[in-house]
Amino acid sequence: MTRTGLPVVLAFAAAGAPLAAAAADAPPAAYPQGAATFQTDCAVCHGAAGAGLPSLAPPLLSYPARYAASTEGRRQLAMTVLYGMYGDVAVEGRHYAFRMPEFGQLDDATLAALVNFVVFDLAHAPASVAPLAPTEIAAERSQPLDGAAVREHRNSVAPEDP
Ligand code: HEC
Repeated sequence: MTRTGLPVVLAFAAAGAPLAAAAADAPPAAYPQGAATFQTDCAVCHGAAGAGLPSLAPPLLSYPARYAASTEGRRQLAMTVLYGMYGDVAVEGRHYAFRMPEFGQLDDATLAALVNFVVFDLAHAPASVAPLAPTEIAAERSQPLDGAAVREHRNSVAPEDP
């Protein structure tokens, strides 16, 4: 290790401290299992709090709540996690054209809890919106798509696409 190694480690530790404090202050997740899956499989691109990363992955703090309020939007959420998505999308006025991987290796209940964490804990959908059921994931699993088709379907549900 070089002489510069230690200050780098200390700088990371200092930067991590306020993050840890913020997490402790956050209200408990309504979907803790979904939260755990999110941190394992999604946070690397969408950020631990779902705010996204500029030009890499979109924020998940508003659109998922709108999708969950319509039948086609609920299908879109299930398709996105099952099959991934690629092609240009606009989210809150910014464009993203990277590749969302597929997570069809996770079972229906795990994916439903994950989507519900995104919809209710990150995007704050109102209580009038019903949580996604594992059967809604299963229905999309029975009709395989590729990520380009998932992107096409999004045209029918996206709030805006400038
Ligand atoms: C490798 C980076 C990456 C990972 C990991 C990832 N995503 Fe994505 N996600 C993206 C990208 C990029 C897009 C936009 C795709 C496009 O441009 O067509 C996206 C789009 C989405 C959308 C659609 C947003 C919209 O407005 O249509 C949802 C919902 C989503 N991701 C949820 C998740 C969840 C849940 C996980 C964890 C299982 C996850 N993502 C893991 C990169 C990622």
